[in-house]
Amino acid sequence: MPGGELQTVVHDASEVVVGKRDGAWPGEGSELLETYEDAAVAVVDGEIAAVGPTDEVLREYPAENAEEAYDATGQAVVPGFVDPHTHAVFAGDRSDEFEAKLKGKTYQEILADGGGILRTVRAVREATERELAANLREHLDAMLAYGTTTVEVKSGYGLDAESELKLLSAVETVAADHVVDVVPTFMGAHAVPEGQDTDDYVDDVVDEQIPAAAEQGVAEYCDVFCEEGVFSVEQSRRVLEAGRDHGLTPKVHAEELAHIGGTKLAADVAATSADHLLHSTREDVDALVDADVVPVVLPGTAFGLGAEYADAAEMLDAGAPVAVATDFNPNCHSRSMGFAQSLCCVEMGMTPAQALVAATEHAAMALDRPTKGRLDEGAPADMAIVDAPSHVHVPYQFGENVVDAVFKDGARVA
Ligand code: NIG
Ligand code: FE
Repeated sequence: MPGGELQTVVHDASEVVVGKRDGAWPGEGSELLETYEDAAVAVVDGEIAAVGPTDEVLREYPAENAEEAYDATGQAVVPGFVDPHTHAVFAGDRSDEFEAKLKGKTYQEILADGGGILRTVRAVREATERELAANLREHLDAMLAYGTTTVEVKSGYGLDAESELKLLSAVETVAADHVVDVVPTFMGAHAVPEGQDTDDYVDDVVDEQIPAAAEQGVAEYCDVFCEEGVFSVEQSRRVLEAGRDHGLTPKVHAEELAHIGGTKLAADVAATSADHLLHSTREDVDALVDADVVPVVLPGTAFGLGAEYADAAEMLDAGAPVAVATDFNPNCHSRSMGFAQSLCCVEMGMTPAQALVAATEHAAMALDRPTKGRLDEGAPADMAIVDAPSHVHVPYQFGENVVDAVFKDGARVA
């Protein structure tokens, strides 16, 4: 056997989606994707050794020689979803705010009354690290069952050095033994603590929290809520530059509730991604493309807020590598990348093929994980098995979990 033990063979799938075809983005349907029909995937030592028509793959990698053979008759194999933007480590319950929003209260009004993020901050400060880790573990379990194999997780419900480190430490604990790959982000600049001046708080983030987070060594990225009434462009720039100086790569929450210039800032500081973008302009999008910043859309948030959606058509027209994430948080309680893809299609005019690329390969780009999100030979064998004959069923069957099985590094994990 070339290279090692034959770990897994998934065979007789109706369709295997490898990823987008070179140079085809943002093409619409079948021409966008590199797919095989009646196809199989062979995995050796956690990596894809072969992908192609079942008879060809089985000739070299007979299913009976594999530790695990999976008959995918009538099913589709897609890359495991990559969720590049979540706030999945928190405590408390904000379901009553959902009801208040349905009655017309705005997100900003709730925050101004000490609710929203600030309420989750109170719950997090009271929670033990163990409780936070248990909560996160439960969320990752659900995400995995929905087909997600890599997840970014932000801190940001602590808002002081001690509590932010507690959140990141909980993330580290769970990441160490959960099968989902976790990418931790420091987001001390998520809101201004009650009663504190914004500039003073930015000083605290820059002088205390970022150095402490860097020393702790868990976080890879530094994110900021660059938003009207939260952190201005200049305050956000200070945070991101300090993060960069301490080895944390920038990400930006940009133009979610208003247009204040967060997208341009993301381009300026060479962020890996700019996320939300509900109010970004064509000029903003062009700036992201020029600076190689991945635009991440979070349609679940718009859905939950009853707000308008980001202009995906404009991003596609600009050739931007649009990625999609759940933004899972107490304000957007969805852990399903399948549902996020349904919203991409129904509310943002993307095709199922575009939504899938956004949820896999482009999402991996938003986390600078270039080997993830595709099923090329040599790539880690992170795969979701869809219990239907094609990838179209992922967004088509909204509100359901169409994922029947999940493989992580070639091992069946769900
Ligand atoms: O991305 N916008 C800021 N952060 C989150 C919301 C967090 C919360 O409300 O708890 C977001 O939507
Ligand atoms: Fe967010």
